[in-house]
Amino acid sequence: MVKGKVDALLGIVFGDEGKGKVVDVFTPKYDVVARFAGGPNAGHTIIFEDKKFVLRSIPSGIFDKGKLNIIGNGCVIAPDLFMDEARELEASGYDLKNRLHISKRAHLILPTHRVLDRAYEAAKGKNKVGTTGKGIGPTYSEKASRTGLRVGDILENFQQKYQALKSRHEQILSELHYTDYNITEEEQKWMEGVEYMRQFSLTDTETEINQALRQGKNVLAEGAQGTMLDIDHGTYPFVSSSSTTCGGVCTGLGVAPNTIGQVFGIFKAYSTRVGSGPFPVELFDETGDKIRQIGHEYGAVTGRNRRCGWLDLVALKYAIMVNGVTQLIMMKSDVLDGFDTIRACIAYEKDGQQTTDMPYDTEGWAPVYRDFPGWKQDLTSLTSAYQFPKELKDYIRFIEEETETPVTIVSVGPDRAQTIYRY
Ligand code: IMP
Repeated sequence: MVKGKVDALLGIVFGDEGKGKVVDVFTPKYDVVARFAGGPNAGHTIIFEDKKFVLRSIPSGIFDKGKLNIIGNGCVIAPDLFMDEARELEASGYDLKNRLHISKRAHLILPTHRVLDRAYEAAKGKNKVGTTGKGIGPTYSEKASRTGLRVGDILENFQQKYQALKSRHEQILSELHYTDYNITEEEQKWMEGVEYMRQFSLTDTETEINQALRQGKNVLAEGAQGTMLDIDHGTYPFVSSSSTTCGGVCTGLGVAPNTIGQVFGIFKAYSTRVGSGPFPVELFDETGDKIRQIGHEYGAVTGRNRRCGWLDLVALKYAIMVNGVTQLIMMKSDVLDGFDTIRACIAYEKDGQQTTDMPYDTEGWAPVYRDFPGWKQDLTSLTSAYQFPKELKDYIRFIEEETETPVTIVSVGPDRAQTIYRY
């Protein structure tokens, strides 16, 4: 590992790849763990010592008591949800106050942003994005239209700024004829969350991170969502509203491109997607149901069923290209333990034409598969790559050849301990 670099850990498909677990495993090697994009739409699950934690806005480095954790300027934050999340961690014995810094430039999600999220979705009818309803889109829209409120705003004349923005939102909602909402209780808790946030270090995290890098410290940038949900590179308009890719690390933390070191791309041994939008490898049969059931593929934030399918190498190669992925991490391999045949999509086909490059519009493309014999063996108790069955080794080798990228880590279960390094 080179000192003074930012390594990026990115979901490279539709999110939910298991970033939380890997950040947690990686944290001992880093001095700082920073979130650079997204907000409470994320749900990073970490399981250790039989305890399960779901983190939304707080970086997964929080469990390692000696590390600085940062919520960067590229993130959006809901004070009420942040308060719930932080209090739960505090109740479990993790003191956050001196170890969690929040960028003053991160944007605030207001209760009315959440109402707007619902209103915009309702107005879309059949073309709903299927958002998490956390107000992500309206908050980032307002950031871009330069009318949003930032964390630093809570330090001065906040009530006035808040009321002005809330009134604007109410005006928009009335124009949309969306009047069936009541935020009184929610708003009260939100304001309590704002007070609670004041106890934290609200800082210029961009300067802090760069100072740390100059001192030769290592930073881990923890991604949220995945490349195919990126506002530029995902399946637009069925995407989230932030830059979830490696470029987002630079803009979302205020670090220069030449500070980026390793780029870890996380994917599952199969594919999932939550919400609407094109998903060429989706399985509508009992195989899809079986993957969902064994993989517990239900949304960590919304509880929705995740759509399931086979591994998509077209998407994976595109994500590797866009992010400059240097190492791949394959998660949830054990979920495929019981399958006779395992498939990987190697191209898309439409109207008799095939492509291995990600098309502009992924709607209407059918997958072209290559089949592999399943390993039909329990992987969960394995501790070394030497113990991998031949069929798993062949599947991994194929992925490496197709993507020209090494698969350096394979996860065989949810626990920290079930993480196998191949090199
Ligand atoms: P939003 O980010 O709530 O606006 O939702 C936009 C799209 O991204 C929807 O299809 C969501 O289901 C999806 N999405 C947002 N966050 C996540 C995540 O953490 N994992 C998986 N999908 C997500």
